[in-house]
Amino acid sequence: MSQLLYEGKAKQIYSTENPEEVLIHYKDDATAGNGAKKAQFEDKGVLNAAISTMIFEYLIENGIKTHLIKQVNDRDVLCEKIDIVLLEVIMRNIATGSLTSRLGIKEGTKLNPPILEFCYKKDEFNDPLINTDHALALGLATREEIETISEEARKINQLLIKLFAEIGIELVDFKVEFGRNPKGEIVLADEISPDTCRLWDVETHSKLDKDRFRQDLGNVIDAYREIHKRLLARKEK
Ligand code: TMP
Repeated sequence: MSQLLYEGKAKQIYSTENPEEVLIHYKDDATAGNGAKKAQFEDKGVLNAAISTMIFEYLIENGIKTHLIKQVNDRDVLCEKIDIVLLEVIMRNIATGSLTSRLGIKEGTKLNPPILEFCYKKDEFNDPLINTDHALALGLATREEIETISEEARKINQLLIKLFAEIGIELVDFKVEFGRNPKGEIVLADEISPDTCRLWDVETHSKLDKDRFRQDLGNVIDAYREIHKRLLARKEK
């Protein structure tokens, strides 16, 4: 019998018959501002399950270790059960969002080199920005794990920049999470989707990600559909 192990803002995690595997169920719920703003978008879960799976498959083909086993239906993805590292790992290629408000860097400035940031996954404190020393002092990961996570995040960034460029999208920034798999290896976990990335159309500069919801720009699900359509067309080539 499958049991609900954890419920997050956009996903649920269920146990499976195999104690080393879980089922990740993608919901239609959307939140912003740490849950301050809430809505539901029909089919967002279906689109994100498909988008994230296509992106993880591409990363696996390119040598990145992940928790993905396989997508089993339109909303459920079978994954290795991991011990999540309580870090949100953010990579930024172009300044926007909290970076511009925090440091006064002009919106749209190209960041060279890309900026890697860590936030502590702790809703009660609004996922605060931290550095490696904080992560070590909090016991979130070992120094070696933090080095692996940083190297993997930079590799993932380069691979994703290339993937999105192929479908006419500029990868502005994104957030990823890592975990320890049953073998104790650090692997990419969680999801990569328009919920967790900023994606700008190369030609029109329109935003094709969750900023449409955060900033009340409308046509949220149309943007997710567009990303799904372009990734699928690339895959089927
Ligand atoms: P930020 O500019 O709000 O700090 O966001 C940076 C990137 O991280 C952006 O692509 C959105 C993503 N992100 C999440 O996926 N989850 C979060 O909780 C936050 C704060 C950001």
